[in-house]
Amino acid sequence: MKAELEQLKIEAFQLLNRAQDSSAVDALEIDLLGRRGKLSTLLARIPELPVEERSGIGTLASSIRKELQDAIVAKRGQFSAPTSQSLDFDPTWPGHSPSIGHLHPVTAFLERSADFFASLGYTIADGPEVETATNNFDRLNIPANHPARDLWDTYYLNPARAGLLLRTHTSPVQVRYMDSHKPPVYIISPGRVYRHEATDASHDTNFTQLEGLAIDRDLHLTDLLGTLEAFLKHTFGKVKVQVRPSFFPFVEPGVELHMSCLLCGGKGCSACKQTGWLEMLGAGMVHPTVLKNMHVDPAKFSGFAFGIGVERMTMLLHGIPDVRLLLSGDQRFLEQFHY
Ligand code: DAH
Repeated sequence: MKAELEQLKIEAFQLLNRAQDSSAVDALEIDLLGRRGKLSTLLARIPELPVEERSGIGTLASSIRKELQDAIVAKRGQFSAPTSQSLDFDPTWPGHSPSIGHLHPVTAFLERSADFFASLGYTIADGPEVETATNNFDRLNIPANHPARDLWDTYYLNPARAGLLLRTHTSPVQVRYMDSHKPPVYIISPGRVYRHEATDASHDTNFTQLEGLAIDRDLHLTDLLGTLEAFLKHTFGKVKVQVRPSFFPFVEPGVELHMSCLLCGGKGCSACKQTGWLEMLGAGMVHPTVLKNMHVDPAKFSGFAFGIGVERMTMLLHGIPDVRLLLSGDQRFLEQFHY
């Protein structure tokens, strides 16, 4: 019976090769593998075999059945290859486009903001994330006993000498830049800053700021507020803003801009600590002492500066409830921000 099975297989393949269309393949399938087909007829004789041969023949028969079935499917495929006429093939369908990634929402925010400030004539200045204590604090009029200098707030690279640190804000770029430039200057400086603090929905240990500095003749607080108002309008459209007096050693007067929390509509949530308002940026008129530290004569020039919290703005823009998501690297989160 083994020889008969193998003979059947050879003949079946010959017939299959010669089949001209799918109906010939269908007929062949019935003839070979159907309930009354050649294979079944052969196998019906298994009970006549000696018991010890039966299982070997059974195994051979099922492997031949499988081979024939595969060959039949493949042959049928040749005749049913899709054509431009067939309904299930549309050559105008888009293909599978490769996944090419996209900008992080924080990067996208910075790029849009840089475009806005460029349209006002600002250029971009860069500074290092490892900064000297002199630039980060002293030249910005932050005295030796200021709490920001505390080990608990600042990451010193060598606490014993306290000379180098991870910058706690982008403001040192202001004094760096003025070491090699003269007014008038209009710069922005985006970058990462570091704070040693407990994290929560609106605080992280490293985040992004967008610093701005303008020094020119006759600049006033109104120029600062007009600039910031235009920026917020550009970014958010219509928003409710509060200007609150504030203190930063490097400006006089100093202000904070708070924006109505867009996440809860001002009702109060964990991101705005139930107050309905979020502090978005600090700003002010550059302190005369700092102007002098920048080699600028305060009698001739005045300036304004601002430091924008980029993650907070991004959160409000997209309704992101927790700042820590932005650094999480979680694809499920990031995939939502295709630009
Ligand atoms: N450097 C301040 C901070 O990190 C923010 C800031 C406030 C920047 C006032 C400024 C400014 O340029 O004028 O909290």
